[in-house]
Amino acid sequence: MRTMRNDLLEPASAAAPSVTTPGLGAVGQEAVGRADGGAGNVAAVYNRAGDGYTAYADGDPERLFAFEGAHAYADRRLWVLLESKLIALQAQGQTSLSLLDAGCGPGAWLRRLVIRARQLGFTRIAARGFDVAAGQVQAARRLSRELGAQSGVEMRFEVADLSRPLPEADASVDIALCLYSVLSHLPTAELPRIAKELSRVTRGWFVTTVRVVGGPPTVFVDSMENAAYFHHDHSSDQCEVQLRNGRFFVMNFHLFEPAELQACFGAHFTVEDLRGLDLFHSRFSRDSRWNPPDLTADAGFLGDLEWLEEAYARRAGFMERATHLLLVGRARG
Ligand SMILES: C[S@@+](CC[C@H](N)C(=O)[O-])C[C@H]1O[C@@H](n2cnc3c(N)ncnc32)[C@H](O)[C@@H]1O
Repeated sequence: MRTMRNDLLEPASAAAPSVTTPGLGAVGQEAVGRADGGAGNVAAVYNRAGDGYTAYADGDPERLFAFEGAHAYADRRLWVLLESKLIALQAQGQTSLSLLDAGCGPGAWLRRLVIRARQLGFTRIAARGFDVAAGQVQAARRLSRELGAQSGVEMRFEVADLSRPLPEADASVDIALCLYSVLSHLPTAELPRIAKELSRVTRGWFVTTVRVVGGPPTVFVDSMENAAYFHHDHSSDQCEVQLRNGRFFVMNFHLFEPAELQACFGAHFTVEDLRGLDLFHSRFSRDSRWNPPDLTADAGFLGDLEWLEEAYARRAGFMERATHLLLVGRARG
């Protein structure tokens, strides 16, 4: 499991001497960013990450249910939630299913949902994922080719910007996803309109995770070990990153307050849950650069960690220091 140890990184001045003008983006050995905070800039960063992003975020794309990527605990927790929604729909007697993944990246979540929905007996499954980064969409198409060819399954991945209107009809989507910081990349001024548009198309549930104001840092496309320098400017929602391979970029990134997410989506959905996700697991994970390999976590310890997650997930002070913030919204009838 990867760690989030900012304190082990080199100081900015020593690690990234070429980063002299925050926001210009044209510094370092390889620069891809412009500090306009726009979707084009975000797309450029995720495009360049290519398959490396899939490996970083999801682990082995062939082992979709192993949950061994950078967010292993959060992924497992999220999966239990999403699977429960599929089961609830099946229990209502539904046999067809409509899924939407906004900012789908390489499409792992749609693939998981489609595989499980088929096992549960859904006979017609329409799944659309879209992402502003064409490279991510290409990866999603490639990785879902076989699954999308199964009978009763229609899987589409498209390049599109979440800040634009969605093509879906009103109340046509059973489960709409917007996972792992997609919303953090969008300008906050656009969020109320985006929340309204997502609620327009959703007839079941909307599930999102975003990064939280007091949570540990991320460099988006790679593990923290590979970061030489990073700095987040909260007043402008701009984040500068320099990776050890010399790559430098600036991206729009907003860190949410729990109340802010609640207000934005609570205006359009019934909020079933709002909680911190991964308060303890990442922080208690072994750091291979420091702890001995035989420092394993036994079942008792893991059980205690799970208990801590549940006990503090909605507690003020802890929630805003979680790795992710999870919101589950139910469409209003
Ligand atoms: C951290 S990744 C998460 C990907 C995927 N949701 C997952 O959980 O694996 C964030 C994704 O949001 C996408 N994104 C950012 N801004 C977007 C926008 N305005 N419209 C659509 N996708 C966007 C990025 O290209 C990137 O693939």
